Amino acid sequence: MTEAQPTRLWGGRFADGPSDAMAALSRSVHFDWRLAPYDIEQTQAHAKVLHAANLLTTQELDQVTKALTELNLEVRSGAVVPDVQDEDVHTAIERNLMLKLGELGGKLRAGRSRNDQVSTDFRLYLRDQVRYIAHDVIELQEAFLVQAKAHVHTTSPGFTHLQHAQPVSFGHELAKHVHALGRDLERLADWDKRSARSPLGAGALAGSSLGLNPQSVAKDLGFDEALANSIDAVSDRDWVAEFLFVAAMIGVHLSRIGEEVILMTSREFQWAQLDDAWSTGSSIMPQKKNPDVAELARGKSGRLIGNLTGLLATLKGLPFAYNRDLQEDKEPVFDTVEQLLLVLPAMTGMIQTLKFNTELMAKSAPEGFALATDIAEWLVREGVAFRIAHEVAGACVQRAESQGIELWDLSDADLVEISPHLKPAVRSVLSVEGSLNSRDAFGGTAPVRVTEQLKALDAMIAVERKRWVS
Ligand code: ARG
Repeated sequence: MTEAQPTRLWGGRFADGPSDAMAALSRSVHFDWRLAPYDIEQTQAHAKVLHAANLLTTQELDQVTKALTELNLEVRSGAVVPDVQDEDVHTAIERNLMLKLGELGGKLRAGRSRNDQVSTDFRLYLRDQVRYIAHDVIELQEAFLVQAKAHVHTTSPGFTHLQHAQPVSFGHELAKHVHALGRDLERLADWDKRSARSPLGAGALAGSSLGLNPQSVAKDLGFDEALANSIDAVSDRDWVAEFLFVAAMIGVHLSRIGEEVILMTSREFQWAQLDDAWSTGSSIMPQKKNPDVAELARGKSGRLIGNLTGLLATLKGLPFAYNRDLQEDKEPVFDTVEQLLLVLPAMTGMIQTLKFNTELMAKSAPEGFALATDIAEWLVREGVAFRIAHEVAGACVQRAESQGIELWDLSDADLVEISPHLKPAVRSVLSVEGSLNSRDAFGGTAPVRVTEQLKALDAMIAVERKRWVS
């Protein structure tokens, strides 16, 4: 074994080393070290293609495999950490391999460049992380679904413009979030398909002259195939931007959920109560119980959007093939992944333990003349043109408002006076139950439909669980 301890992968043509400020600017190992297990996995796969191309003997491959297995354990246990001199994760891994293997460790760089290496490591890392994120999204869906099942028959005011609009099943309200998160999971699955392509073998940009097989190394690393153009392979960061978009979309969903929880738990609404474990107190006001989980979710979504727009700005106008600007792709992704893995489980815990004030919700469901549309639609079923029906229902609201009563308090005399079309039978829809039951088209809030919907969501979650557990 030699004493070689390279700390740079590119010293040959330089008479002198980089200045301290240059080295500090260039260094990425303090953040890209988390790619170390993937760099090791990649190096193992690369060693196999070097062996297949007769560039490593079987004995050398065995030695390399043993050293990589050891190094992997040491990296995971924290026994091996990067040196202050290491520029990036690739340098650190190669230095450690050379410590174990001497010159043999230096053979493993043949046919690859950090340009294809970094993109390969990063894809492997992100495809792994996406599985954790998907798992946490599914858990949140499940939390909503359990609550939705308990509240199919709970009625509540439905809002547009945050004003009472029409009464709805509260289970329907809760289930809407399962759909939104379901689209996020579809987006992740679509992302995963497109990201399952390997850049390894592209080298710096032009491919390899050493008889290596990019397709076989791609399969070995769990990718579907190798990227078909080596320049595109080292240029492409679409998959990073796409991930950051999907993550930001999840963040936006979490922020909207958070906002609803903040409203519902306010003194003014009093619709819901936070569990102690998922709220915080105030350092000065002893009575306070604050919805910090919801607020942090709302706040962090801004950060996730920033990570997306930051990367897009980095990519804009960048010439194709590798440019060092691309080193800036990693920190926003690491941050986004970390934030999502923090906020998703907390959101799940908060939703699972929310207690709803169903009596109050049911009581206010029809308030604010929320059944006016039901009068109009009842008239339409009686053959009245909607334009007229809308006016008649509006006149009912005006009359009830002027008398300080609700729509169902209007007398029969009031009704015929407003319009001869308004027969006492209209009262059948002047109840929350009647209103909800009448909205029984597919996707509507009628409890029969909501029950069907929740069954379909059960099936959807089962499919997602299967998709992401492999
Ligand atoms: N640390 C670099 C990055 O993250 C690795 C690739 C460096 N390539 C190079 N030609 N300097 O992008």
